[in-house]
Amino acid sequence: MPKNANMILDKAFRISQIDERIYGSFIEHLGRAVYDGIYQPGHPNSDENGFRKDVIELVKELNVPIVRYPGGNFVSSFNWEDSVGPVDQRPARLELAWRSLETNKVGLHEFSKWAKAANSDVMMAVNLGTRGIADACNLLEYCNHPGGTKYSDLRISHGQKDPYNFKVWCLGNEMDGPWQLGAKTATEYGRLAQETAKAMKLIDPTVEFVVCGSSNKDMPTFATWEDTVLDHTYENVDYLSLHSYYGNRSGDSNDFLAKSDDMDEFIRSVVAICDYVKAKKHSKKKMFLSFDEWNVWYHSNESDNEEMKQHPWQVAPSLLEDIYTFEDALVVGLLMIVLLRNSDRVRMACLAQLINVIAPIMTDKDGGGAWRQTIFYPFMHASKYGRGVALMPVIESGVHATSKHGDVTDVESIAVYSEEKEEVTIFAVNRNLEEDVVLTTDVRSFEGYRLKEHIVLECPDLKAVNAFGKETVKPKTTDQTSMDGGKLTSMLHKASWNVIRLTK
Ligand code: AHR
Repeated sequence: MPKNANMILDKAFRISQIDERIYGSFIEHLGRAVYDGIYQPGHPNSDENGFRKDVIELVKELNVPIVRYPGGNFVSSFNWEDSVGPVDQRPARLELAWRSLETNKVGLHEFSKWAKAANSDVMMAVNLGTRGIADACNLLEYCNHPGGTKYSDLRISHGQKDPYNFKVWCLGNEMDGPWQLGAKTATEYGRLAQETAKAMKLIDPTVEFVVCGSSNKDMPTFATWEDTVLDHTYENVDYLSLHSYYGNRSGDSNDFLAKSDDMDEFIRSVVAICDYVKAKKHSKKKMFLSFDEWNVWYHSNESDNEEMKQHPWQVAPSLLEDIYTFEDALVVGLLMIVLLRNSDRVRMACLAQLINVIAPIMTDKDGGGAWRQTIFYPFMHASKYGRGVALMPVIESGVHATSKHGDVTDVESIAVYSEEKEEVTIFAVNRNLEEDVVLTTDVRSFEGYRLKEHIVLECPDLKAVNAFGKETVKPKTTDQTSMDGGKLTSMLHKASWNVIRLTK
């Protein structure tokens, strides 16, 4: 006998209009993300600029409105001047964060072209690790100033007449992390970020800033870091960043699927800190969040450490190439649900990363094509059907026991309503690994709507993976939902990601 769950959906239960940048992603100069990822001159699928056309097609399927660039840890020792100008005159450099060789064959201009072809904006990051205010200002002048100055004219001499007008700027990356080049205390970083934002705003008052929060919620300075950094920067920045990666290191899948609850708690804590600083400062401004690194990441950790130790200074080494399982896809779906549930404060988010490096899209190492990992699908569904207003479903769900998270709900869900397209989409995961759940949803407020389809991602083997030429884990449409008047009845199989779509 399946278990039962009930849900009420109503147009009036609005969380927020979803900022589409919640479907952002991230490309770092790391491993095979750039070289042999988006860029592979000579490959049969590459265009005249060396960009992989098959990769761009898959990125377009994901419909990623913004891509964070160029790092990550990479940005903290990045000399942007090395990455512009005639390609054959650019220097190769030791890349310290990942102990690789950076050829600078792809730099700012090439990446901007690529992003345009992929229909994405660039979320640019400045180096506040080994560099500082002046360099950040020079880079902004180079990118966004129309002309008639040293750096804007340099850009024009490099063939780019119009300014890039990058709108979103990250003030460094994970500056609390001891692994970060030029890591800082909260006070050191808070002061530097404040003064950098102040100076950059004088150059281009239209830009928005993301200031670094903690590298994750387990950092010893978590919470006091956010408090101190915001104390210094509150009125000059627009978003506070959150990063978090999840893994099934203990092999306890039941508990792994409960980890989305940690993300929810993390977001709520950070919102509370932001609002505390707001109150302390008697400010009228609301701080928004940029969850600009999130994903599952753990499969490749050990081998990466060895690789960087044993074989440093390679161009495009195979690093962070997690091959994702079906259960990882369920977790990505669950994390996406949490982000959407918090979309009143989470305005931007970046699935980290996009190609080859902890990525939904992979390119074959032996010169073959590009392929979709398991996690590609829940992200694609959310990005495709999750545009509009996030609605908070009122759910009555059974629970099941987990080893570290106590009793957790079987069903996790969020709904998105697009008034414009006259569509409602319910995203739901049954994270109970033992039992199916019949979900009954009251949709009476959506008069005149009918069931369009129920898409499901499920697999009998939690550890199943995809590979080039072999997509074991992929979605299918199913007849597991029926609609009777204002009532939907959906069978949510154990361990499944479900997309239930209504239309007029
Ligand atoms: O995304 C991989 C790395 O994870 C990033 O470079 C860094 O910011 C984080 O620690």
